[in-house]
Amino acid sequence: MTILKVERINTGYGKKQTLFDVSFEMCRNDTVLLVGFNGSGKSTLLKTIYGLLKPWDKEGRIWFDGEDIIPCKPSQLIIKGLVYIPQQNELFEDLNVKENLELSSMQSNNKKDLRSKMDKVLDHIPKLKTVLKRDCNRLSGGERKLVSLAMALMNHPKLIMLDEPLAGISPKDSNDIIFQLKRLKNTGVSLILVEHRLKDINNLATKVIRLELGKLYKENQ
Ligand SMILES: Nc1ncnc2c1ncn2[C@@H]1O[C@H](COP(=O)(O)OP(=O)(O)O)[C@@H](O)[C@H]1O
Ligand SMILES: [Mg+2]
Repeated sequence: MTILKVERINTGYGKKQTLFDVSFEMCRNDTVLLVGFNGSGKSTLLKTIYGLLKPWDKEGRIWFDGEDIIPCKPSQLIIKGLVYIPQQNELFEDLNVKENLELSSMQSNNKKDLRSKMDKVLDHIPKLKTVLKRDCNRLSGGERKLVSLAMALMNHPKLIMLDEPLAGISPKDSNDIIFQLKRLKNTGVSLILVEHRLKDINNLATKVIRLELGKLYKENQ
């Protein structure tokens, strides 16, 4: 069953076109690996799916879970189950991990609900239990990435888009992140991964797509 369908996207910054007639679709449980040289438009494509950039013309359409999401803002998309984790993790630096997790839940009615959501997320990423009280500006690169992932999980995502999750991360921390991505995949969350370290991540992918100068090519299905 299709979870995301992207159709005929032309967009860019100001007058400069960055994506040219980009179309692809992915099914529930797919892990899509998005590859391409620097500047080919990978981040732009993720930002467009996330509603941060809009298609330039009416032919450009994006459906998530059967719904046209072109009119949606990122905050609405998070509630619908679509999350984007940019390369630079946006954390509340002077707050600790637990406080960051609490703030990231978009729809918690009360403390008990929040607590049970957090317990589930921590069961999924147990490594964070040891740093719960640590301020985010004292975390390693890998720990920061795990916090970003945990913040996404607080909202029960159906599809997570990760922009270069291993960039600048030590080999040991990278292993932790890859382990978590595998676990996520096994729980049925769909993933789009932008990543250069193909050998680490390739066996996760069910589908590889490549952007070259803003045009998309499918490597396999
Ligand atoms: N905020 C921006 N303003 C203007 N141009 C941008 C901006 N972000 C990216 N670009 C340009 O869009 C093109 C694609 O960039 P990007 O999507 O970041 O590529 P990738 O993620 O594949 O490295 C590049 O030519 C880049 O310079
Ligand atoms: Mg990029």
